[in-house]
Amino acid sequence: MANPAQTDDVDEQTVTPWTVRGGEKGIDYSKLIETFGSQPIDAPLLERIEKATGQKPHRFLRRGIFFSHRDLQLVLDNYEARKSFYLYTGRGPSSEAMHLGHLIPFVFTRHLQEVFDVPLVVQLTDDEKFLWKDLSLEEVHRLAYENAKDIIACGFDVKKTFIFSDLDYMAQRPEFYQNILKVRKCVTFNQVRGIFGLTDSDSIGKIAFPAVQAVPSFSNTFPDIFGKKKDVLCLIPCAIDQDPYFRMTRDVAPRLGYMKPALLHSTFFPALQGSQSKMSASDPNTSIFLTDSPQAIKKKINKYAFSGGKDTVEDHRKYGGDTSIDVPYQYLTFFMDDDKRLAEIKEAYEKGEMLTGELKQILIQVLQELVAEHQRRRAEVTDEMIREFMTPRKLNFSS
Ligand code: TRP
Repeated sequence: MANPAQTDDVDEQTVTPWTVRGGEKGIDYSKLIETFGSQPIDAPLLERIEKATGQKPHRFLRRGIFFSHRDLQLVLDNYEARKSFYLYTGRGPSSEAMHLGHLIPFVFTRHLQEVFDVPLVVQLTDDEKFLWKDLSLEEVHRLAYENAKDIIACGFDVKKTFIFSDLDYMAQRPEFYQNILKVRKCVTFNQVRGIFGLTDSDSIGKIAFPAVQAVPSFSNTFPDIFGKKKDVLCLIPCAIDQDPYFRMTRDVAPRLGYMKPALLHSTFFPALQGSQSKMSASDPNTSIFLTDSPQAIKKKINKYAFSGGKDTVEDHRKYGGDTSIDVPYQYLTFFMDDDKRLAEIKEAYEKGEMLTGELKQILIQVLQELVAEHQRRRAEVTDEMIREFMTPRKLNFSS
């Protein structure tokens, strides 16, 4: 079987939780759907989502940012039959510096929580970052709490949301470790090597970790929320690079008498330099951070954002800009909700009526507002709120 995780061919794209490398034109997402064996989110499915929820699908769905899924139909069947499901997403706390791209799954998950009125569990994999990075246990645990503030600032409903650090929760509820053990018993080293591209020289910590990310997909991992129920369906919004974990999870679930989690996959948020290059926490100029000042945002976009505009104003007026490679335009597709305004901008830019500087100015304003608003909400997060979100407890939701 072709194994995307193990190819060394430079022309081939590689997408694993640790390596994301596209071909010359960036990531080919239709090809990913093929190699991963997931389903595209197409027009009929969008229509069904609109019908089920009674509202226009989120812009991330309308614009193909969440582009692929597994078993979303089943989630909608459940919802329409008034059977509850729950949401699960997560973050690896490797740094305090969260950037715009990190917000995508949380912005979307918050929207889903509101629309469907369902509980949410958020896993902070401090254990994962301890294993993969040169960080102490104390440090990854501290980072989990720092990142929790940014997540809470996204506006989750505390009555319906449980955020947990793996290090904490492992010591709080035996059900977590019990499920981890059950998964570990079903998965061989061979499988983990194949799915994740791990090798003989990786630590046994890394080899054993995937089970930890798998089990929040099973409702009985959270007895405070679901009691002993093991059949509450789980829906996981995540970036597509996390899919290997959940392919493994879906593979073992039936053998344990559990439900396979459903998934919604997003594309990657492009680096300022363009979708072929990678955002890097160690190079602050590759992305906009949630801590950036208005001046920093302005400077980064003006100086570093890759433009699809032409080299001279004359050429630009004559030939227009290319929105398919223009980073400021692409960022707007993520953060400008108004379809009509976005379409007008696209048209004006492609016709050469709008210049790169003008497009960048629009984006600067959108992002300055968004980041300032995030900073405002983050500053309001108190220790007491963090404690509440992160305490295992009963949540409030219908059925
Ligand atoms: N491994 C993910 C990361 O490094 C964190 C994570 C844990 C996650 N569980 C998840 C992401 C579920 C998405 C969905 O970011």
